[in-house]
Amino acid sequence: MRMVDIILKKRRGLELSSEEIDFFVQGYTHDKIPDYQAAAFLMAAFFQGFSPRETGDLTISMARSGDQADLSGIPGIKVDKHSTGGVGDKVTLIVGPLVAAAGVPVAKMSGRGLGHTGGTIDKLESIPGFKVTMDNQSFLEQVRNLKLAVVAQTGQLAPADKKLYALRDVTATVESIPLIAASVMSKKIAAGADAIVLDVKVGSGAFMKNPSDAFSLARTMVEIGHRLGRQTVALITDMDQPLGFAIGNALEVKEAIETLRDNGPADLKEICICLGCEMLGLAGIEKDQLAARRKLEDLLKSGAALNKLKEFVQAQGGNPQVVDHFDLLPQASDIHQVTALTDGYVREIQSEQVGLAAMWLGAGRATKESVIDLAVGVVLRKKVGDFVNKGEVIAELHVNENKEITKVADMLRQAYVLQREPVEAKDILLGKVTKEDL
Ligand code: URA
Repeated sequence: MRMVDIILKKRRGLELSSEEIDFFVQGYTHDKIPDYQAAAFLMAAFFQGFSPRETGDLTISMARSGDQADLSGIPGIKVDKHSTGGVGDKVTLIVGPLVAAAGVPVAKMSGRGLGHTGGTIDKLESIPGFKVTMDNQSFLEQVRNLKLAVVAQTGQLAPADKKLYALRDVTATVESIPLIAASVMSKKIAAGADAIVLDVKVGSGAFMKNPSDAFSLARTMVEIGHRLGRQTVALITDMDQPLGFAIGNALEVKEAIETLRDNGPADLKEICICLGCEMLGLAGIEKDQLAARRKLEDLLKSGAALNKLKEFVQAQGGNPQVVDHFDLLPQASDIHQVTALTDGYVREIQSEQVGLAAMWLGAGRATKESVIDLAVGVVLRKKVGDFVNKGEVIAELHVNENKEITKVADMLRQAYVLQREPVEAKDILLGKVTKEDL
């Protein structure tokens, strides 16, 4: 087999065989195919696309390019959850303990943040002592005993995706639905869960800027999951404003704890309940959505979900007292208030701008090597639909020795899109894709 023939075949829009796709994926991963041929192939694929069968084959080849977790020693249906990336998205910190308290085994591998979106692993590391690595046996044992463990994804999980993603990033081939779908699903398949719940974000701060692309990505991923024998459901959720109020690592941990106390922001709670209901359904614990919702509400009200968080934090070496004493989390030295320059109703809060503002304060990484400040970030004081008076506080900046407060405050003011007329409330859940919708 020759790579040049595979490039030519894809350039002509012909369907590739499973062997040809695997030849490309394994060859590129093991440095047998040079960057220039891989780049040409990606560009041909970008324009010609892939059939559902080709997309499934690409996914499985990438999943098999490195380590594959074996969760078969854990009883029950293991359910994973994945978000395509949002601003203020601390959902895993809430949904993990919540569904684990309902009996769903969650063995999760998460990533770090890059750019304007945060990563679960960075957030967890703001809890003093919390360890995000452990050996495989301890990981499986913790899930067996506690129903919940979260560790940092290693470079050995789908290394083909890691290498291809870096190449896509510099060859203008990221925004391809089959390539994104295969990239996300290869990591989920390699992480070993039996069932997958996807949160596909749509809006200014998300990969998918419009609902039609978001539904198309969701359908492609659900189809891959079912092709590869994993029950998969995708929810399409709104990202026309950050999720909750807090953006920044320790600030988001606090908000997650408040949500587990049933005292969190309405949008964040709703998305956690919606995802949690799907996870309970796929795990076979509660298929009836209304009953699942009631169960999750009860676990929040009774304190059982919060208690699960404490056990989880303790099991991974963290200080469980943070749950009752927020002052044990990293704290910024100053809080700077950002006030509105005009009156109006909030129509949109451009998530990407808010994420970038938090990054400027040090909460996110500009490059993989950047060191982040776990204490800093942004707390929004107004959300979509609220009325803002000129001079009123719209957000707070939690800062440490930052010299660019004026610039960051301006970024936040620009992120708030105000209008004269009242704004109608929009549901956070925009739709759902299951196997039946394919
Ligand atoms: N997230 C991924 O993991 N892969 C993509 O290609 C895009 C977003």
